Amino acid sequence: MTEQKKSLQIAIDGPAGAGKSSVAKVLARRLGCIYLDTGAMYRAVTWLAMERQVAFDDMDGMKQLLDTLQLEFEEADGVQRLYCNGTDVTEAIRTPEISANVSAVSMIPLVREEMVAQQQKIAAGCDVLMDGRDIGTTVLPDAQYKFFLTASLAERARRRALELQQKGVEVDMEQLMQDIALRDKKDSSREVSPLKQAEDAECIDTSDLSFDEVVEKLFCKIKK
Ligand code: DC
Repeated sequence: MTEQKKSLQIAIDGPAGAGKSSVAKVLARRLGCIYLDTGAMYRAVTWLAMERQVAFDDMDGMKQLLDTLQLEFEEADGVQRLYCNGTDVTEAIRTPEISANVSAVSMIPLVREEMVAQQQKIAAGCDVLMDGRDIGTTVLPDAQYKFFLTASLAERARRRALELQQKGVEVDMEQLMQDIALRDKKDSSREVSPLKQAEDAECIDTSDLSFDEVVEKLFCKIKK
């Protein structure tokens, strides 16, 4: 009988703006595995709740929304697009308004249960690299590689500002730092699967590393 090869699972967690998503995207491509941006999924639920005017504390409303939720990732011209119930929300989920509200939605146990279940279903049987807050602790506790990417608050704000400016969004640096610090606090202090470094994850401070250096560092660790 042939032994079945265990699929490759890589978990990258860390606070907002630590560069997880951009690093994860490139790394997944180099490794030839599926990339799943779990933050985008929480953002999409937030977008839908706001679009349908479902209050975040209306649990019946949230349940209804989750019961019919269909999230689909599609690759087009090298860009991963996210469709929420058939609507392309790729850009809509990146607005400051969604960023300001996503922590409130991602702390709802019902939402987390559904997202974690969907993420584990996607991961089943394929080589996958996921980034988020609870991947190493909750979604993929048996992942072969777990990384916790961090960077100083100032550096994370600088990177986020650059990203927003490239999209033509005006940035107030002070406000951005405050927003990120607040999101960190909310993400770390919620009761259900908070932002936390898994005990067996390797912490990498990227404050003084370039994007390419971070990618290379993780790639070498995995390939070794
Ligand atoms: O990575 P991001 O900034 O796009 O994530 C948006 C929010 O989603 C973040 O504030 C916390 C939440 N999130 C989460 O709770 N668990 C995850 N696995 C991924 C994101």
